[in-house]
Amino acid sequence: MDSILVTGNGPLKGQIPIAGAKNACLTLMPATLLSEEPLTLTNAPRLSDIKTMSQLLQSLGAEVTALNDGKVLAMSGHGVDNPLAHYDIVRKMRASNLVLGPLLARLGQAQVSLPGGCAIGARPMDIHVTALEQLGAEIELKDGYLHAAAPRGLKGAEITLRFASVGATENTLMAATLAKGTTVLKNAAREPEIVDLARCLRAMGALIDGEGTDTIVIDGVDRLHGATHQVVTDRIELGTYMIAPAIAGGEVELLGGDIALVETLTQKLQAAGVEVSQTNAGVLVSRPNGRIRAVDVKTEIYPGFPTDLQAQMMALMCTAEGNSVLEETIFENRFMHAPELMRMGAQIEVQGGIAKVAGVAQLKGAPVMATDLRASVSLILAGLAAEGETRVNRVYHLDRGYENVEEKLSGVGAIIQRVPGE
Ligand code: UD1
Repeated sequence: MDSILVTGNGPLKGQIPIAGAKNACLTLMPATLLSEEPLTLTNAPRLSDIKTMSQLLQSLGAEVTALNDGKVLAMSGHGVDNPLAHYDIVRKMRASNLVLGPLLARLGQAQVSLPGGCAIGARPMDIHVTALEQLGAEIELKDGYLHAAAPRGLKGAEITLRFASVGATENTLMAATLAKGTTVLKNAAREPEIVDLARCLRAMGALIDGEGTDTIVIDGVDRLHGATHQVVTDRIELGTYMIAPAIAGGEVELLGGDIALVETLTQKLQAAGVEVSQTNAGVLVSRPNGRIRAVDVKTEIYPGFPTDLQAQMMALMCTAEGNSVLEETIFENRFMHAPELMRMGAQIEVQGGIAKVAGVAQLKGAPVMATDLRASVSLILAGLAAEGETRVNRVYHLDRGYENVEEKLSGVGAIIQRVPGE
């Protein structure tokens, strides 16, 4: 398995291009199952998770062709005829569950294996199942698979999610586009990736209103047509690379970045003493001299602080002046990076969903283990600020969510290289 070697090299300077959003692309791709006609996505990120979703869609009978070095995904749901999302593919990635709603709507049935993905909590599917049942689906769990059927078709309904789950909102939204009548989805997730999905579905002919608020109204249509859609910027990649100059010092411009996508992170960074501003080309982040100040962070659903930036923020707080409290409210097991950061000299105390971090003046390079996607990148960020060499082992998680990390960071002056595993 590959490792990444990072050596602290002082302040960063330059520009980093930000890719299209992994989490948007992973829900936009299954939307192709809803239509007979072609769906083309531009600004797609080049990631192993996208390849996994391509394989899954192809196994269901869809066509997926990566063009322009993977930045364009030309898809067609014309030949979709297989309702079975097999465990062998689904176990690689939890987002595979996003084929459930579209398959049900298009084929009237779906058998989807319960997913795997990052080991950051139990991540059940009850919210997806309850919402789809309210649309008229009959769903049972057998042999590790959700067996779903809608023998009389899906019917619009008023649905209130017990929690604003991102995936459940996406599955329900996609299914409701082809249901008979009106669906009112309450306590819906408001993440920018959901807004992006709604825009794409609307370009395909869906009737949707209210995305980005907690109530989405969908008027079902008989069929959806083809469309071309540009994937929204990846706010998590953006936020991650905003933290790079904050932790290592220097000034970096994140090309294509939009502060509106990362408002809570921006506020926290500014409170910590980091300068953040919007430019014509993107977001400019600089931390001139001296240590940053400690700030407290609590992860919340959008527009709160994203759980997917909590590990990176913890790495930053390890180097801050003072004590900070990080509270994780979305996933119950998402501090696995803490003991790894402690191997680098960080002072962290974890109690349940709360991590107390006492900032240290200097982190020290060490061999560390990547435990999930965002944890991996937090260790790389820590390595940028550490004295000596940090070896991040088991980086396969990283390739699921970050394209060309070594290239992007060495482009702004970091000393970073990939060491291929045996
Ligand atoms: C998505 C993102 C992920 C991000 C998360 C929260 C994708 C591909 N992944 O994941 O990167 O960390 O949103 O912003 O977009 N839950 C239930 N029952 C359910 C569904 C969820 O209890 O049926 C719980 C989960 O266990 C978790 C919480 O709700 O504790 C949030 O999950 P959810 O919003 O569904 O996240 P995902 O869509 O899986």
